[in-house]
Amino acid sequence: MNEMTANHADSDARADLISYLDFHVEAGIDAALDERPHDRFAEAEAVQAAAPRAEPAPRREPPPRREAPPGEDAPLEFRRELPSRDPPPREPPRTYGNAAGAKPGEAADDARARAAQMQTLEELEALLRGFEGCTLRFTAKNLVFADGNPQARVMFVGEAPGADEDRIGKPFMGRSGQLLDRMMAAIGLDRTSAYISNVVPWRPPGNRNPTPQEISICRPFVERQIELANPDILVCLGAPATQTLTGTKDGILKARGRFYPYRLSDGREIRALATLHPAYLLRQPVQKRLAWRDFRMLKTALDGSAPGK
Ligand code: URA
Repeated sequence: MNEMTANHADSDARADLISYLDFHVEAGIDAALDERPHDRFAEAEAVQAAAPRAEPAPRREPPPRREAPPGEDAPLEFRRELPSRDPPPREPPRTYGNAAGAKPGEAADDARARAAQMQTLEELEALLRGFEGCTLRFTAKNLVFADGNPQARVMFVGEAPGADEDRIGKPFMGRSGQLLDRMMAAIGLDRTSAYISNVVPWRPPGNRNPTPQEISICRPFVERQIELANPDILVCLGAPATQTLTGTKDGILKARGRFYPYRLSDGREIRALATLHPAYLLRQPVQKRLAWRDFRMLKTALDGSAPGK
């Protein structure tokens, strides 16, 4: 084989390989699996063990509660003042590097200490962009931090991004998101009057469930996000969000349709409503009647606690 023929053969083989991979991506295969089982819990623990210990973070006062500006007309009554243009973080966000010594579980404490220092949602997002203490960030394409209006009175929290959200970098962009949009529209909400996030801000590979370790590392971030967004009502979409944020161990069919107290770090208590996840409703459309009941409860609660009532 002369050199030119060999180059052709190489580029044909490369093109074949790319089209073979394309075929699999088109078919929905988006994570490479091995014939050997992997202990993902042990892998997550190894990363956590490599995280440096946190200096105890000084506790800062929570942001003052914002009041709705007077004189807004009806469609805007769900809004608060415009997002503040806060200064960038005072300290550059520190990442979980490679200093050894932290035990599994300390990464979550470290995450909590760092999250507590963030004074704005922009700072928190910047911290997460540099955060390396959760292995999911290495397989995800994008951080999925939030969508919607951070000044809104209601905040929806789902479980973790899927493929569409990972590609776009915003939560609830796929079929579940379209259903969530329709459910919100049924009670007069949209992404200008609701804030939307997830317990875990990176897509678990192959859409597997996040592990308890991954949830425990990400939880301080979503909790700080809730404090900084400061909604009146939190809506937990599905069992993982409900169990993580309310502490209930009940399954979602038992937990849904109830308001749980949710305590912020300033001691203030807001209400968290548990409801069914839109992805579950896509699989079990007959259960939409239960979700509708929950959304009516949400509307009643929002109307009852509207500014000026
Ligand atoms: N499911 C979730 O829980 N969150 C998303 O962002 C998308 C689907």
